[in-house]
Amino acid sequence: MQLQEEVIHAQPIKGKQKIETVETFAAQNEIVINGLVKKYGDVTAVNNLNLNIHKGEMFGFLGPNGAGKTTTISMLCGLLKPTAGSAQIAGHDIAREPQKVKAQIGVCPQEAAVFKFLTGMENLILFGNLHGMNPQLIKERAAELVNQADFADAARRKAKGYSGGMMRQLNLLIALISDPEIVFLDEPTVGMDARARRRTWERIASLKDEGKTVILTTHYIEEAETLSDRVGIIDYGELIALDTPKALMEEHQVDDLEGVFLKITGRRIAEGM
Ligand SMILES: Nc1ncnc2c1ncn2[C@@H]1O[C@H](COP(=O)(O)OP(=O)(O)O)[C@@H](O)[C@H]1O
Ligand SMILES: [Mg+2]
Repeated sequence: MQLQEEVIHAQPIKGKQKIETVETFAAQNEIVINGLVKKYGDVTAVNNLNLNIHKGEMFGFLGPNGAGKTTTISMLCGLLKPTAGSAQIAGHDIAREPQKVKAQIGVCPQEAAVFKFLTGMENLILFGNLHGMNPQLIKERAAELVNQADFADAARRKAKGYSGGMMRQLNLLIALISDPEIVFLDEPTVGMDARARRRTWERIASLKDEGKTVILTTHYIEEAETLSDRVGIIDYGELIALDTPKALMEEHQVDDLEGVFLKITGRRIAEGM
């Protein structure tokens, strides 16, 4: 493969045109987003989003409540139709080849999506079936996932008795059942106690070692700062910062990403929650 120069990101940031030019492999971009827009009536939830996410990257997608994170993820996963713009995931157009996109991705949606009258294990098997996986493989993969997550006992119980945090844990395992190359995690640790949260962060970190591309939104900005190769900060549907956590903190001369957001917007990310 030939190394080539390409413009990976060109869009206004705080009024000035920022052109970021990097040396990169042409095939390195796993997710390519061009001018993505979503309007709900008068509300523009996502406004001309241009963003490339690299293969194997842990990408932290941060911003206050209502910034447009879930809407973006829903469009990329084929759950929501964009008003304008396009995106390719692993080379497949989200509008024209939704089935091919779905075969590559795992999604942990913000709203828990589990069948409450099934056990955790039955949920995993059901979702494995929906992915068209071989039954033996589903069993092996499900057992591996619940054991890794220390979730084997819970997985024998019906999900209707789960706490919010346990629902989230099951949702993460469901996202991973098909061993997808690209994983979308929308607030994966909300409602978890400290122990489950720590274990979940470790699991998310291990996805990186497995070479997965991970798009992560979270309110736990510290974790995002630690884990993410790059972060994109979105506010009012627009990307207002994009770089490594270190580079953003250096650029704005602050000690954390919350400080970066404060410098750019005059508000704290947490204020919108
Ligand atoms: N189904 C919907 N109908 C109308 N407005 C919506 C809907 N979903 C989200 N919005 C609005 O779109 C904006 C972005 O929301 P969302 O993507 O959920 O943000 P985030 O995930 O960053 O908190 C918000 O103003 C929200 O109120
Ligand atoms: Mg959201």
